[in-house]
Amino acid sequence: MIEVLLLGYLMAHVYAEGGADVVLSCSLVEEGVGGVSLFTRTPATLVLRDVAVPSDELSDTLTPFIPPTTPDPDLILFEAKASSTEIPNGEVLLHADCDEKEVMCEISRYFPHGSQDSKEPAYFFVSLSIEGDGLGASLVLQTLMVESDQTKGAPLIQNKLGLPLSQSGSLLTEVVFLVFSHAKAISAPLKGDVLLNCGFRQQEMPPTQEVTVEWRLQHRGTGRKVLDMRSRPTDAEEHSVVNAERKGSSVDAGLLVGEGNASMTLTKLKVSDEGTYICTVGVGLFHAQQVIQLHIIQPPRVSLSEEKLVYKAESPQTLSCLCSHYYPLDVQVCMAAVKPTYSYWLFLGFLVVTVLFFYQVMR
Ligand SMILES: *[C@@H]1O[C@H](CO)[C@@H](O)[C@H](O)[C@H]1NC(C)=O
Repeated sequence: MIEVLLLGYLMAHVYAEGGADVVLSCSLVEEGVGGVSLFTRTPATLVLRDVAVPSDELSDTLTPFIPPTTPDPDLILFEAKASSTEIPNGEVLLHADCDEKEVMCEISRYFPHGSQDSKEPAYFFVSLSIEGDGLGASLVLQTLMVESDQTKGAPLIQNKLGLPLSQSGSLLTEVVFLVFSHAKAISAPLKGDVLLNCGFRQQEMPPTQEVTVEWRLQHRGTGRKVLDMRSRPTDAEEHSVVNAERKGSSVDAGLLVGEGNASMTLTKLKVSDEGTYICTVGVGLFHAQQVIQLHIIQPPRVSLSEEKLVYKAESPQTLSCLCSHYYPLDVQVCMAAVKPTYSYWLFLGFLVVTVLFFYQVMR
């Protein structure tokens, strides 16, 4: 029993038909009632079933996720069918464990717009991010009906969530909506252009469904809207309303409704464009976000006070280095002198020294 559970936790990639199962250790985050702490965290497991991966990555060595043999109403085990809503770059999740990258996973209750807190279906929000600059995704899970088995009586009810469990003791759900980003942090030079990556997928897209995108920038405690857009799949160009508050910001309406690509392009970058961008996509009842950091980096222009310095034993001489036009301002500049190896130059009475610069942004 212990072995089975451990296997379940440790194997992040397990084989299933058509895709792979990804097992993630998560926490269920709930608002605390009264008390000092605002949120409570309970360990939970999320099994993403049938995550699409390139076929050459499916091998026989992967075994399917094995749920515990005896259903436990205290265990929080989410099973989410991921086949109906493709998780872009799902294989990154699959490899995160082997690459020793940590996957951050938080699950919370979610109440879609307009849905009164009717008990079923229930919705959960999953926030996933892979350590480093990797994939980030926000998933909306919808619970599936638990078929009642006449022979076995009423299904077990999960103690904390009050929802019926499947035969194997899991909460059966499917991914109905997700917003993702390929890069959580990006650097770009001043006056350059940048594409901030954000996309979404949903289970089914009714042809007249409106898609809304809002991009906001948060920097040093203040926030402002950069762009918002609403668009319908039919005749993307004609039916989209764009409101770009920053000159030179754009989202491609065709890509938005056609491919679920809500990425924003910013041209002629300024220092004031730096900060945390929040991409919010809304479709029907669902809204989800991704956060992307934009850093502006401009290497310095470097010049020396003297082009040639002649060595004189008796008087000290100064060589100064001037760095300008760089960003951010908190940088470290190192100067290194490289002496020539042959004594030939010394023999001639010169010491030729090459000065090298190292420039490093301190973050
Ligand atoms: C969106 O489209 C751009 C341009 O074709 C591409 O570079 C980017 O990777 C796409 N992003 C997503 C999330 O699909």
